[in-house]
Amino acid sequence: MTAQLLDGKALAAQVRTQLAGRVAALRSAGCQPALAVILVGSDAASQVYVRNKIAACEQAGIRSLHQTFDADLRESELLARIHALNHDDSVHGILVQLPLPPHIDAKRVIEAISPRKDVDGFHVASAGALMVGQPGFRPCTPLGCVRMLEHIGLHDLRGRHAVVVGRSNIVGKPMALMLLGMNATVTIAHSGTPDLAHTCRQADVLVAAVGRPRMIGADMIKPGAVVIDVGINRGADGRLCGDVDFEPAREVAGWITPVPGGVGPMTIAMLLSNTVQACDQE
Ligand code: GUN
Repeated sequence: MTAQLLDGKALAAQVRTQLAGRVAALRSAGCQPALAVILVGSDAASQVYVRNKIAACEQAGIRSLHQTFDADLRESELLARIHALNHDDSVHGILVQLPLPPHIDAKRVIEAISPRKDVDGFHVASAGALMVGQPGFRPCTPLGCVRMLEHIGLHDLRGRHAVVVGRSNIVGKPMALMLLGMNATVTIAHSGTPDLAHTCRQADVLVAAVGRPRMIGADMIKPGAVVIDVGINRGADGRLCGDVDFEPAREVAGWITPVPGGVGPMTIAMLLSNTVQACDQE
């Protein structure tokens, strides 16, 4: 059996078209959604991510404020900048691109963002709201994964086992909580979990978010499972690849996301969605 492709690029394009309609309605009602994107330093990957986010905003009619600072920016200056944006009523979302230079405390910076503008969903108040099932901004990558599951008809995962491999605060942990919210039985594993292959083979829904090229092999996948690959790695051959060994895995899985063209475009679409929501709930 060859898995069906969960085409994040196509779904993200649909979501962005729908969002452009909502943005147009908000604009004619006198409120243009606006996202401030802060980049500190000149990390090449971060520059690409930020450029993509800003281009996606513009395409959807969302105003973007791009603020770039040298790597030696003082933490107090960054905090002052965030404080000003918190109080600027024309700005609905604030995103500080990570990683930050080592002399800046990223936790302190994230906690300085008003939870009402925390469109990345990284603030401790957003994380707490997710934990207890209250409304709040959800981190964009796991939110995008949920949207992909819903797209293939998986709205309720009662009776199904989901395994999340990876336990980061911005993907693995929130992903597990969202899957619990969909009534799945959830296991969080990581690269050091004993007999990881056995654990993964229990999964009806397998989410890989470890950051190790092709570490999830076909022997770790239950036949027919939905496999969502959050990894974006450079393989030994220099090409982009995920955490899942795609070609063999697609012969076992029922559904599988490609890399690139899977989770990545959905993450950006969810950032736009959160920004529109921030404007909408004013
Ligand atoms: N760096 C890598 N991914 C992300 C993300 O989703 N948000 C922010 N702010 N920084 C990142």
